[in-house]
Amino acid sequence: MKQVVVLCGFMGCGKTTVGRALSRLTGYAYRDLDEWIEQKAGKTVADMFEQDGEAHFRALEREAVRACAEEPALIAAAGGGALTFGENVQVLRKAGSRIVLLDVPLGEIARRLQGDKTRPLLNRLDKETAMKELYEARLPLYREAADFTVDANRPAEQVAREIA
Ligand code: S3P
Repeated sequence: MKQVVVLCGFMGCGKTTVGRALSRLTGYAYRDLDEWIEQKAGKTVADMFEQDGEAHFRALEREAVRACAEEPALIAAAGGGALTFGENVQVLRKAGSRIVLLDVPLGEIARRLQGDKTRPLLNRLDKETAMKELYEARLPLYREAADFTVDANRPAEQVAREIA
């Protein structure tokens, strides 16, 4: 049986930490799509945004989603933008992958991302108002993409156990 689980949600919702915990629990391999993209491109996501533009990054992200959909079993953490694109969601659905939304309220997200300099999209945003706008614009897209939503405003181990 196909066992690909893709974690989605806003930057800072804990996709990486929960993904790793879920991988330990289930024994399925873990893949961070941003890391996969960085390896393929030979540079960081931040450098890609700066040197090649967001469109280039999104094209590689589509490739990363396709590669992940082809796996028989995998726990994958998608970047915060990946599943806001219908095309990526369709590819995963068609392949029988499951999409799980890690739901964390905006206030907690803002707290977790405070001072973060590694996320290019975040650096571009005009801080809190813009983050709120992006969060509110994306939430319905995440909800539409997701097969399940879990409350991720809890310790990662607990969230992983619920998903497992
Ligand atoms: C992005 C989120 C990032 C990364 C890129 C774009 C986004 O991933 O893919 O910077 O559009 O929200 P994380 O959600 O893991 O930070």
